[in-house]
Amino acid sequence: MIVVSGIIICLFLLYLIFESFTNFQLFAGRFHPLIIHFPIGILFLGFTLELLSQKRKHHSIQPILPLILLFGSITAIISVVLGLFLSWEGGYSDDGIFLHKWMGIFTGLFSFILYLINAKVNRKSYLLGYTLLVILLAITGHKGGNLTYGDDFLLENLPPGVTEIFNIENKANVKRKLIENLPEALIYEDIISPIFDSKCVSCHNSRKLKGELRLDNPEGIMKGGENGEVIIPEDHTKSSLYKLVTLPGEDEDHMPPEGRDPLTDSEISLIKWWINQGKLFNTTVADVTITEEVKDKLFKLTTASQTTWDKLILKKIPDPNPEIIAEMKKKGVIIKKISEEANYLEINYSLFKDEFSNADLTDLLQIKEYIVWLDIGGRKEIDDSSVKIITQFPNLIKLHLENTKITDNAILLLTELPLLEYLNLYGTNISNNAVQHLKNFRNLKALYIWKTQITADGILDLNKLTNVEIAAGEELLMDNNQNE
Ligand code: HEC
Repeated sequence: MIVVSGIIICLFLLYLIFESFTNFQLFAGRFHPLIIHFPIGILFLGFTLELLSQKRKHHSIQPILPLILLFGSITAIISVVLGLFLSWEGGYSDDGIFLHKWMGIFTGLFSFILYLINAKVNRKSYLLGYTLLVILLAITGHKGGNLTYGDDFLLENLPPGVTEIFNIENKANVKRKLIENLPEALIYEDIISPIFDSKCVSCHNSRKLKGELRLDNPEGIMKGGENGEVIIPEDHTKSSLYKLVTLPGEDEDHMPPEGRDPLTDSEISLIKWWINQGKLFNTTVADVTITEEVKDKLFKLTTASQTTWDKLILKKIPDPNPEIIAEMKKKGVIIKKISEEANYLEINYSLFKDEFSNADLTDLLQIKEYIVWLDIGGRKEIDDSSVKIITQFPNLIKLHLENTKITDNAILLLTELPLLEYLNLYGTNISNNAVQHLKNFRNLKALYIWKTQITADGILDLNKLTNVEIAAGEELLMDNNQNE
């Protein structure tokens, strides 16, 4: 009894001393998540042994049980004190921490009281008390875990059917929603907030207000953090949020902090563009100027290739015949699977050893469903008759025909490929006559027409295809601007 009172008094004195060393509290508080494992482990062990000792066979362990409970309760109380230190550091909202804090304090004290009354009450009430203690401990621990990892952390990886029952959003399964119609997309809601959600909100939300900043809604973003506004519309250079995400990675103020997934260059450009265009919320892409810097980045967020891709992945097909593949590889054809999940292939003739002929393309018909990328660029033997064969590859998405002998007629043939998204026609003889056919591609996303016969007028016409990225070379684009 004297020992115990001594310990408590010492703890209280230590507490008073720590009070006066602010840094010490900050230092010690960080040990809470570590030390907390001791009382949890010890008290659960004590409880299990307590139950075991009910059996006559294990009566002999009874004398050490109070000691285990004492250790458990002392480490629990130390953890509580450290937990209070940690909470003073800030960064947790009052709502989030309230229950964990008070349940923690209560559990610590309760374990100690249980120790004190241990000898004085009957076994049944004592065991009941102990049961209550471990239940409290489990709930408090769980609440604490939620503060650190977020509410969904524990059950996040349950199978999808089960997560539905618990109404948990399985974050791993939620992909960024791709944008169907770019001009109508909302800049903050569809483009910027998903970036914050994935990289910032885990620390800047209603429960964990690091830097007193919330980044999970417009009000929080506008309100700013402990040092005031974080975004100054129309001026990214004055916006602390932009400054912090662009600091060198090793700078201790860099956001997100070390060890977290940093923002990509693309994400940083998009945030800069969002700040500079000035109207932060409820603004569509069509309302503002799309700068050169963000043009491709925005384009990458749109559907098309991703959806086509997903469709292919979902449509599982068996492995291609290994003999055919081996035979082709021997001739120098580069054949690669495009991903681990799907058997679709990328085929590249850049290292092909023999004279190339249409017979080689006819060979490919044996594995035609597998081919999604085909690179036969630079092969002078390729002409419109070769393209006729290529149109029989139903899943072709990406096609390199640069520096080949194809003509406008080939483009008409290629419109038969339903999934074609990328077409490289660099250095071919196609002309403005091909433009009308190019407009008929349903899924085209990227078109390379440098050094072809297509003129500035042709490009002007093609530019009406707002969904297609066109690479036509500097001079032509300049001509084009002058024409406008
Ligand atoms: C691991 C947790 C964590 C993540 C993730 C995180 N932050 Fe922070 N953030 C902090 C902490 C802690 C502070 C307070 C730093 C300080 O006061 O020295 C802070 C402060 C800030 C501040 C300054 C607020 C003010 O007024 O002082 C901004 C702005 C900020 N963060 C933006 C971001 C952005 C943007 C992201 C995502 C790209 C992000 N943070 C991700 C922990 C985090």
